[in-house]
Amino acid sequence: MSLADFIKALPKAELHMHIEGSLEPELMFALAARNKIALPFKSVEEVRAAYAFSNLQDFLDIYYQGAQVLLTEEDFQDLAMAYFRRLAAEGGVHAEIFFDPQTHTDRGLPFKVAIDGLLAGMDRARTELGITSKLILCYLRHLDEDAAFATLKAAEPWLDRIEGVGLDSSEVGHPPSKFARVFAASRERGLKLVAHAGEEGPPAYVYEALDLLKVDRIDHGNRSLEDAALTQRLVREGMTLTVCPLSNLKLCVVNDLKAHPLKRMLDLGLKATVNSDDPAYFGGYLADNYLQTAQALDLTRAEIVTLARNSFEGAFLSEAEKAGYI
Ligand code: HPA
Ligand code: ZN
Repeated sequence: MSLADFIKALPKAELHMHIEGSLEPELMFALAARNKIALPFKSVEEVRAAYAFSNLQDFLDIYYQGAQVLLTEEDFQDLAMAYFRRLAAEGGVHAEIFFDPQTHTDRGLPFKVAIDGLLAGMDRARTELGITSKLILCYLRHLDEDAAFATLKAAEPWLDRIEGVGLDSSEVGHPPSKFARVFAASRERGLKLVAHAGEEGPPAYVYEALDLLKVDRIDHGNRSLEDAALTQRLVREGMTLTVCPLSNLKLCVVNDLKAHPLKRMLDLGLKATVNSDDPAYFGGYLADNYLQTAQALDLTRAEIVTLARNSFEGAFLSEAEKAGYI
């Protein structure tokens, strides 16, 4: 069996995927036309050509701009369904998806529009595609903690359908400590906690995510490897890292996939997983991330199985649900 077929046949969960980052240029144009919004691009090719980033902020600027075509519940449902169809086609069976409510409420959309649209898409993914999913609300870290608290308040009526909260957007200069109180309040409401840390930020931010936010998973975590004591702690605590190899390449966190730390993470005993982050912007969905990384790092099939197993072990599924996959 070819490596691509092996990866496709392997049941996989995706734990780090921003749904706004799955907006393909074709859908961006279709939604812009439907909503009568002018885009600053003439063609799909021109949009793709603009996807050359030298760091996280370069990407975020264009990602927030793209999200402006999303206006109705139907738009968010279509966005989610497009992602779930891609996931189903490549052997994904479960996804824990991020969304950024502040990106939408700050341009005047009611909180309800994004979340009800996404939940409708998630319900359809279960019945039409057999994919299970959970929703993680991310606070934008370039905004202040009061804005995050307002977002938590807006989310109150939906808390039974929100699995957890995360922390994303511009990392450097916005340490996890800035959000310690809103994470504590989120925890008190029974929400799971994750945070982007150590993508561009230093190991100190990973410590803060662990000690001040008390996260259940670390998103990215690459720069943890610069600190041996931190690495040992992550191994000891069995902390899941949601690693995103093609994202790391596109955002110049690594210069070459052959230099990606994923294999080193596995060798060290870290619970690393593979994820697509923002697949429409970074040139690949979940299986592409597995395949390109496996080829670049010469991963064995046993290592690929470990990565898939880690994705279920790190998921916010019950032990009984996990047992069905592992
Ligand atoms: N990092 C931080 N924020 C993000 C990302 C990312 O990779 N993708 C979408 N928001
Ligand atoms: Zn991310």
